[in-house]
Amino acid sequence: MKIMFSLFFLLFMLSNNVHGKLMNDVNQLEINGCDLFQGRWIYDNDDDYPLYDSSICPFIEKQFDCLKNGRPDADYLKYRWQPNECNLPRFNAIEFQNKLRGKQMMFVGDSISLNQWQSLTCMLHAADPQAKYISKRIGGTSIFTFPKYNTSYLMYRNAFLVDITMQNNGTRVLELDSLSSADQWKQMDVLIFDSWHWWLHTGRKQPWDLVQDGNSTYVDAPRLALYEKALTTWAKWVDSEVDTTKTKIFFQGVSPDHDNPGSSGSNTCQGVTQPLASTERVHEEELVLEKVLKGMDKSVYLLNITKLSQYRADGHPSVFGHGGHRDLDCTHWCLAGVVDTWNLLLSALLG
Ligand SMILES: *[C@@H]1O[C@H](CO)[C@@H](O)[C@H](O)[C@H]1NC(C)=O
Ligand SMILES: *[C@@H]1O[C@H](CO)[C@@H](O)[C@H](O)[C@H]1NC(C)=O
Ligand SMILES: *[C@@H]1O[C@H](CO)[C@@H](O)[C@H](O)[C@H]1NC(C)=O
Ligand SMILES: *[C@@H]1O[C@H](CO)[C@@H](O)[C@H](O)[C@H]1NC(C)=O
Repeated sequence: MKIMFSLFFLLFMLSNNVHGKLMNDVNQLEINGCDLFQGRWIYDNDDDYPLYDSSICPFIEKQFDCLKNGRPDADYLKYRWQPNECNLPRFNAIEFQNKLRGKQMMFVGDSISLNQWQSLTCMLHAADPQAKYISKRIGGTSIFTFPKYNTSYLMYRNAFLVDITMQNNGTRVLELDSLSSADQWKQMDVLIFDSWHWWLHTGRKQPWDLVQDGNSTYVDAPRLALYEKALTTWAKWVDSEVDTTKTKIFFQGVSPDHDNPGSSGSNTCQGVTQPLASTERVHEEELVLEKVLKGMDKSVYLLNITKLSQYRADGHPSVFGHGGHRDLDCTHWCLAGVVDTWNLLLSALLG
């Protein structure tokens, strides 16, 4: 049977060494199996958290720099993720860099990808602040390199993964079956994709006017259906074009926001200074993503951060992001913070 699931479970724990492994059946957990994504947040009494001091990360974007923007509380910096059945390995930045020597890692997605890319570059810089880094931008791609390790960490802005093209008459068309940027992605050694938040935009924030889906065009459709079609285009591309023995592929699970009045659980992140005790919210978009990933032939990893982040209503910039009280941000995440844990998980799964 060729069906490979996109999951990762941790199979063995040897002191602090963990080995991620792809499973081709979600039910075939081995005896010592440990799902890194099932666990809880624990206040860290040792001095391990936060993993870096954001004030020594010179390239951090204002929108993530909550302390500098005046956030008065600091407990949110002190929580570490504790999986139920094993420990999350400590982040060893030098080991991480050495593992990626001569390689390129690229994040492809929206500003949540940017959030994770920036967290990772801050973590790496903080561990070796003397190491020179070069940060440049070519078109929509930001490239961050450490010559000492010969590593590159790239950020490719692309909120929908599929294309948006402009017709002669100015009409912007979302092409659900076209991935023209993909050739550049294929060159990478590690890819971390993300897409969801922009699918919800309507009105002025919606960057397309028409949807093209095979031979038909239409003005709109339920957004989950459009999302699934675009993901399916992406999945077909991976299955047919990507050599996953050379290029390791991750998909960042849907990052939950906390500004959704009417949903159960917390309605807003403003003033929240502690993680939530429980979360019940179901993310249908995450289920769509998992369905598409499970239907793939090639192996890709799901960075299943949805639930663990759902607890962290305290982790968003709130009024200490880019917009202050005019633009409450309960979508992105303060750095240092929750996203650093996503990178710990990424590091553990890179093996
Ligand atoms: C650095 O890595 C690139 C691949 O990303 C490789 O082509 C190049 O030879 C490496 N340079 C050195 C000095 O090792
Ligand atoms: C622009 O052209 C497309 C077809 O290429 C058509 O579907 C659309 O209605 C046109 N829009 C306007 C505003 O004329
Ligand atoms: C789209 O149109 C082409 C050419 O007209 C046709 O060959 C193809 O079968 C159509 N595809 C679908 C999905 O209808
Ligand atoms: C992702 O995590 C959620 C919540 O912890 C879990 O219900 C779901 O089964 C996980 N998905 C996969 C593919 O492991």
